[in-house]
Amino acid sequence: MPSDGRAAVLFDPSVLSDSVPLPLYLQLARHLRNLIVDGRLDEKDALPGERELAEAFGISRVTVRKALRELTAEGLLRQRQGAGTFINRSPHLEQRLSALTSFTEDMSSRGLTPGSVWLSRTLAVATPDESMALGLRPGAEVVRLHRLRSANGTPLAIELSSVPTRFLPVPSLVETSLYDTLRSLGHSPFRALQRLSAVRLAGEQANLLAVPEGAPALYIERRTFLKDGTPLEFVRSQYRGDAYDFVVELSLM
Ligand code: GLP
Repeated sequence: MPSDGRAAVLFDPSVLSDSVPLPLYLQLARHLRNLIVDGRLDEKDALPGERELAEAFGISRVTVRKALRELTAEGLLRQRQGAGTFINRSPHLEQRLSALTSFTEDMSSRGLTPGSVWLSRTLAVATPDESMALGLRPGAEVVRLHRLRSANGTPLAIELSSVPTRFLPVPSLVETSLYDTLRSLGHSPFRALQRLSAVRLAGEQANLLAVPEGAPALYIERRTFLKDGTPLEFVRSQYRGDAYDFVVELSLM
């Protein structure tokens, strides 16, 4: 539990409002999530109990419980029987494998601020791998976008996306979201096919992702298609193994 003065600032009831079109428990979850991911609540801090939080925010214990359950499911909190609720500082996110979302949308929907650092942004003749994946003739050009993606400043993934110049004529058109840019050009991503495998991160990649060399990661190759089945994007990415769970929903065929 933070000291009294800090607690008053961190658990300020004015962050919740009845006039916001978001249920109170989600507003509370968003507030606590920001405190955790920004590092304002420390890993050594146990979270105050349900009753104290309910009193501090002027809401019911049921609402507090629902918010804590939400953050536990996201991996930001961990409940220890009898000892209380503790904070997992590094974001641990779940991504549904069946939802076709962009990185920007995915992070924003969790209340996290997406970030990108450009590693390179070039126009080049497609490699044989790119030509095969994108169905291009020899000599065709692609835009290659190499980015380090982060959430609230924590690096999560390295992505190398290749897009035929037919859909994205120049790299500089992409400032923040590739998918927003493609949609604004009339080329909406519609379907994607991904292959996942476990890898160990080599030195430079580990450095970028701020993990030790050899740390586990998920290597993901993705081909994204337009509605008519034309390949739009070929992506190779490394996701930090300690920060991401990919969740798949199965149903009877
Ligand atoms: C996800 C996908 C990538 C895609 C990216 C676009 O991370 N796995 O294939 O390139 O989203 O994200 P944004 O629109 O934020 O650039």
